[in-house]
Amino acid sequence: MTVFPLHIIGMAGSLREGSYNRSLLSAAQRLTPEDLTIEVFPLDDIPLYNGDLENDADRPAEVKRLKRSLAQADGLLIATPEYNHGIPGVLKNAIDWASRPAFKSPLVGKPVGMMGAAPSIIGTARAQQHLKVVMLSMLAEVMPHRGVVVGNAKDKFDEEGHLIDEATQQFLWSYLQDWASWIRRISQKKALVTSAETS
Ligand code: FNR
Repeated sequence: MTVFPLHIIGMAGSLREGSYNRSLLSAAQRLTPEDLTIEVFPLDDIPLYNGDLENDADRPAEVKRLKRSLAQADGLLIATPEYNHGIPGVLKNAIDWASRPAFKSPLVGKPVGMMGAAPSIIGTARAQQHLKVVMLSMLAEVMPHRGVVVGNAKDKFDEEGHLIDEATQQFLWSYLQDWASWIRRISQKKALVTSAETS
């Protein structure tokens, strides 16, 4: 199989400086397989969604930048907190902007990976189920997987936010390997379909 470099956009659904999910995304940046890079897109400057601004003249600059980054990326890796058994508004807001125009957005067919960290034992399992439904609604592709659910986060990260738990490091590493292979597999399949359609 041909190996081509993958450029991934990473998003964490928390603005908190000491966020476990931002730390998890940083850990993923360090544990990536060869030929895969993760560029973190911070969500701090994304304004609240306003349908009146959803046109080429008025769309906020940071939203344009987000959509351009996603369009150019080979995949999107999301680290989501769990808020009241769902994904936080900060993340949903960014996804809502990026999902327009409906079914023609940069997220159509985009390979999505997901993970999450929380202080509770099963924290983010429910948020990740929610996220899966949200991403599939806009025709993004989500890899079938049992999920990177980092519970008891306070024992897995040190005070500086480094992921120190070796089993979690190993699981995350193997998830990223599987995800990269899956992205390459579905991208090659799509390329074959496109070339068959145009030949
Ligand atoms: C939470 N938290 C939480 N945790 C959980 O496991 N299930 C939940 O449903 C919720 N709900 C929830 C709602 C709100 C409004 C807040 C602020 C928090 C706790 C949450 O997992 C914890 O604050 C994490 O540390 C948030 O992620 P970051 O900011 O560390 O990435």
